[in-house]
Amino acid sequence: MILPPADASAAPTSNSKLFLYAFSSFTLVSTVLLAPFLVTPALPRRLYGALPYQHTPASQITKAMSLLRARLAARSPPPPLSSLSFVDLGSGLGEATIAAGRLGFGRSHGVEINPTLLLLSRLSSIKAGFSPWTKQVSFRAKNLLTLPLDKYDCVFMFGVKPLLKTMKPKLTSELRPGSLLLLYRFKLETDMVEGGRFQVVGKEGELTLYERTKTNT
Ligand SMILES: C[S@@+](CC[C@H](N)C(=O)[O-])C[C@H]1O[C@@H](n2cnc3c(N)ncnc32)[C@H](O)[C@@H]1O
Repeated sequence: MILPPADASAAPTSNSKLFLYAFSSFTLVSTVLLAPFLVTPALPRRLYGALPYQHTPASQITKAMSLLRARLAARSPPPPLSSLSFVDLGSGLGEATIAAGRLGFGRSHGVEINPTLLLLSRLSSIKAGFSPWTKQVSFRAKNLLTLPLDKYDCVFMFGVKPLLKTMKPKLTSELRPGSLLLLYRFKLETDMVEGGRFQVVGKEGELTLYERTKTNT
């Protein structure tokens, strides 16, 4: 004997409610996670640099770390990496920051204004084995244009030309003599090098490694 369902109309209704709930949650979460990618490049260029997200390929990050290691190893005496600090200005998904932590920098910081990228970087660093408590690798929601640079030994940046122009006075006045500046894709304006403030100490494809000289101009 076939029994009729207790309430034939109940199943489709609860199913469609469930579907509606799942769909709205998915749309809401996606909007919240994706919105920063639209907002960041639209921020005022003078205050934030309005730098869009684009990532440095893994092969370039490996080369970047080799350039830094070679330059530091050539110093006399070579400083222990564990005594040095690294920062990626606009750290994106955190690959360079995590690679610097793996290389052995005592402190490796990523600063990023996009909260979605910040969240994903923190998850990646935990996945890579860095405890959020030790702070050897850490990510902060900060504006790179106002972050003091004098406490870092190595600064990495995948900037764009107009942003590097804006940062010119900051890089000159805040980077200590001997600190390293590693740029991917874009370079410093020639007067920064010809004027003696920075010297090119390494090159590999689209990566250029500069050292802040002792000239304080
Ligand atoms: C070109 S991406 C580089 C990402 C990463 N460093 C890499 O090389 O793969 C630049 C990053 O800077 C971030 N950004 C833009 N303006 C910023 C600001 N004012 N302060 C901090 N981060 C910023 C963007 O959200 C983006 O993730």
